[in-house]
Amino acid sequence: MAENTLTIRDNRTGKEVEFPIQSGTEGPPVVDIEKFYKEFGLFTLDPGFRSTASCKSRITFIDGEAGVLLYRGYPIEQLAEFSHFPEVCYLLLNGELPNEEQYTRFVNTVTNHTMLHEQILNFYKGYRRDAHPMAIMVGVVGALSAFYHDSLDVHDLRHREVSAFRLISKIPTIAAASYKYSIGQPFIYPDNERSYVENFLYMLFSVPSAKFKMSPVLVRAMEQILILHADHEQNASTSTVRLAGSSQANPFAAASAGIGALWGPAHGGANEAVLDMLAEIRSVDRVPEYIMRAKNPQDPFRLMGFGHRVYKNYDPRARILKKAAHEVLAELGRGNDPIFKLALELEKIAQEDDYFVKRKLYPNVDFYSGIIQSAIGIPNNMFTVIFAVARMVGWVSQWKEMIEAGEGIGRPRQLYVGAPSREYLFMSERK
Ligand code: CMC
Repeated sequence: MAENTLTIRDNRTGKEVEFPIQSGTEGPPVVDIEKFYKEFGLFTLDPGFRSTASCKSRITFIDGEAGVLLYRGYPIEQLAEFSHFPEVCYLLLNGELPNEEQYTRFVNTVTNHTMLHEQILNFYKGYRRDAHPMAIMVGVVGALSAFYHDSLDVHDLRHREVSAFRLISKIPTIAAASYKYSIGQPFIYPDNERSYVENFLYMLFSVPSAKFKMSPVLVRAMEQILILHADHEQNASTSTVRLAGSSQANPFAAASAGIGALWGPAHGGANEAVLDMLAEIRSVDRVPEYIMRAKNPQDPFRLMGFGHRVYKNYDPRARILKKAAHEVLAELGRGNDPIFKLALELEKIAQEDDYFVKRKLYPNVDFYSGIIQSAIGIPNNMFTVIFAVARMVGWVSQWKEMIEAGEGIGRPRQLYVGAPSREYLFMSERK
């Protein structure tokens, strides 16, 4: 019996088959069950993929028990402290940190693609003014394939590169325009003299009639938010992008599918839900009541920004953002911000409570990101849009990796539990 194998025996027939165990560079090994059906005529059942690796990847690693997150091997804490967002984009896309010359070239290319085809701005005007900006994002990003159809051959390296740059360069412009449209202000064209992050904030907040100014502390906090959200291995939206892209759909369509998956409150929409929850709780003395509700299995209420599918420890991103929230609020002279105080109190009580301790429920990335964004002046309904701006590079990197690995179309199987095969019932025979 080979050492690096797992033997599975079908007790019905006595058949035994060895399956190879593959080790990665980090994390638990995996059993390769590609031939499982061929050998046994059985599928495996794993709803929600709690035990299933859907692909091999070199991009991001999470150790959920230890609270570790690495992009291409680099700890998130170091990237958040020392790097700029475009550097992280380069790293995720190419596997290595750029040298000076590579960085300059990369930033120049990203900067040169920030404008949108003018016709896209007309596309926005078809939306209602009160549309959720994520609804606009899903539509506009999907529609990019109608405007940039010169680079849609997913098998052509150059086309993949051009589409990748277009998505990463234009997503802040698209996001800012979604916001401007929803508040009835004129679209702001990108200013390519500014850095990626400052330019994004400029397009969000400037108006033609006033000079735009923002503290570097706030710009850096936004940069950290983008770095921390840039990738997170095979989460729901990334898996969606990979699966949509596996049909060889163009990357704009696949990215739009990812935005749809990100929107939900169990994923990217949680940052919006955290601030809604804090606004509902309102004061520190009501915290125990909401903790009780979160613990009650009959009550659908959950502590938003708490718990994670993978992290069973403090989310390392939340720790960085908690510090950034302190810095931003101090910079704005709002060290006593009541919502921040409420969040700190909620975290403290939850971390002392047996229910949360036993289930290893800690603050996740969304718990503090909304507080920072709100302090910067970003409205709640834009939080998930900011997440999408940051995650675009992760989606693109994962999509490229999937296409370049030649994985073929994804096609999960199922355990069918519906009606067995039966004859058609004519209307007169139905009860
Ligand atoms: N509040 C109260 N109880 C919770 C919470 C919570 N936020 N999260 C999990 N639990 C309970 C859950 O009810 C279950 O209890 P029991 O064992 O008694 O049935 C136990 O903890 C285990 O939870 P689970 O459902 O197995 O956890 P999961 O891995 O399926 O869900 C989650 C993870 C993120 C969907 C969930 O924790 C949640 O809904 N959190 C709130 C929403 C949120 O903050 N989402 C953002 C995730 S981070 C951003 C991102 O990466 O997209």
